[in-house]
Amino acid sequence: MVRSSLELRKVMRMSDTDVIIYEVGPRDGLQNEAKFVSTATKVDLINRLSRTGLRKIEVTSFVSPKWVPQMADNADVMSSIDRVSDVTYVALTPNVKGIEAAIKASADEVAIFAAASESFSQRNINCSIKESIERFKPVMEIAAEQKLQVRGYVSCVTHCPYEGEIAAVNVVRVSEELMKIGCYQISLGDTIGKAKPKDIEKLLIAHKAVMSRNDLALHCHDTYGNALNNIKEGLEQGIRTFDSSVAGLGGCPYAEGAKGNVATEAVLKMLGEMGISTGVDLKKIIETAKFISKALTRIQD
Ligand code: HMG
Ligand code: MG
Repeated sequence: MVRSSLELRKVMRMSDTDVIIYEVGPRDGLQNEAKFVSTATKVDLINRLSRTGLRKIEVTSFVSPKWVPQMADNADVMSSIDRVSDVTYVALTPNVKGIEAAIKASADEVAIFAAASESFSQRNINCSIKESIERFKPVMEIAAEQKLQVRGYVSCVTHCPYEGEIAAVNVVRVSEELMKIGCYQISLGDTIGKAKPKDIEKLLIAHKAVMSRNDLALHCHDTYGNALNNIKEGLEQGIRTFDSSVAGLGGCPYAEGAKGNVATEAVLKMLGEMGISTGVDLKKIIETAKFISKALTRIQD
């Protein structure tokens, strides 16, 4: 059920009003750009984001450059940014090779990524869901040795571009596996933006039966304009971490139709109107959105 912003604010306890914005623009936002975005632009983007009050920035992915050429400069980006002390700089790592490179480049945190759909798992990381969990186990061991926190993504949590609707029970199974191997948080990805609030409600209720709402984040793509209402439903269900992408950049190369993530500035505006604090400066995010939109020639001066 989606309540109005005011109604929703009334039902949220004051102690619940702090929300964490997990910025995925430099990674999810740029990974699908057809034209190579220069390393200098990526670094500039991350440096600007670092000065907005964000605490979590997903910087890049240490994946195969043959699969995602846009992220081929991962190590250069990660090692060139100006680090702000209370910002955590995260990297996506699909396997041992990925985490080893991420550690060498001094990532503060890593993220592994699975899917609730077999077809998407095969297309995205070239293995079954079961194989992916096995592949992640040595990654988790290395992370534990290095005392790095690991976030777990589950893609296609309500719909898959190849299989259609996905049952919540299948998603919960993957989320539980990722928690069992040691992820501190599961980010539930509406990869192609097809979820509606009622789907998110069903998904979160199913998860809350087996894990705490504090272990969960929502990762909404905004292909059909549902993302803000889905985030409202997430708030209603007690979720307090939301992924978003400055300027609404984004997409997934292995999910045709997966447009941008929900725009960070749109989420901040909505939360601000609801009186929910994030510690992130909306004006600075808007400036950064303009910067990257110009750099990608989406808008003119
Ligand atoms: P594979 O071909 O099965 O891997 O790919 P492999 O182990 O057989 O290795 C093949 C080649 O890749 C070898 O090189 C390896 O060295 C190299 P070659 O000998 O042919 O020259 N390789 C690597 N190179 C650099 N870094 C690595 C690495 N691993 C192997 N880490 C693999 C398996 C997982 C590597 C591949 O499928 C891949 O890179 N996939 C990445 C796909 C991806 O990045 N998708 C987008 C991110 S997920 C997403 O956007 C969804 C999310 O936002 C949530 C949501 O919205 O739902 C998170
Ligand atoms: Mg995504």
